[in-house]
Amino acid sequence: MQVWHTAGEWMDRRRAIGADSIGLVPTMGALHRGHAALVERCRRENEVAVASIFVNPAQFNDPRDLSRYPRTLEKDLALLEDLAVDDVFVPNAAELYPRGYAFRVEAARETKVMEAVHRPGFLEGVMTVVLKLLNLIRPGRAYFGEKDFQQLKTVREMAEDFFVPTEIVACPTVRGSSGLAESSRNALLSNAARQKAAVLFRALTTAPSPQEARTMIEQQGFAVDYVEEHWGRRFAAAFLDGVRLIDNVPLS
Ligand code: PAF
Repeated sequence: MQVWHTAGEWMDRRRAIGADSIGLVPTMGALHRGHAALVERCRRENEVAVASIFVNPAQFNDPRDLSRYPRTLEKDLALLEDLAVDDVFVPNAAELYPRGYAFRVEAARETKVMEAVHRPGFLEGVMTVVLKLLNLIRPGRAYFGEKDFQQLKTVREMAEDFFVPTEIVACPTVRGSSGLAESSRNALLSNAARQKAAVLFRALTTAPSPQEARTMIEQQGFAVDYVEEHWGRRFAAAFLDGVRLIDNVPLS
């Protein structure tokens, strides 16, 4: 496995790749079983499997959230090596944003729900960095988890609208035995909070209405941002002990 830190180094490597298929798993590190599932699928479906690790400042609207985001680079690289990844791109902010946040992708109308309302600038930051990564890595396929369904949908539509020749592949959410969705932010929860957090999945799947789901989640001590239904799915975002968790399930 080779690790690249600059766009220049990566572009030299990219020109040398003769393979027919390249897959990318973009991440912000703090890798967990959910990422491992994306990487395994990427590994199976492509001749060259690439992962990127970059904690993207542009998608954080709260500087405290950015500074406490878990960073576990050595462990992440060891996991990616075990999963037989070929290349890992680990740029710093100056590499990906040489002019600062001078140019960005903006979202309109239909994305102005949920994350777009509660985390202003989040989806713009995600789309901007993903577009940069797709242009740099030039993968045939890029893999995203359904846990971040609104992100996945927005990235897919953005890639289509900008005629990016990369297939955006959706992968199912990976859950623990309690139903809690795997997330890098789970690492910030105490054991007790982690047990309480299982209520998110329970409420999403069992409450008869979004309002009743909100009540169930609040009863466990969460401060709820939203419980809403869109695109045939039910979504929730809520804070527990200052940690923001999101989840969603299809409506049956
Ligand atoms: O889902 C994430 O980890 C990030 O939002 C992504 C897609 C890597 C962009 O920074």
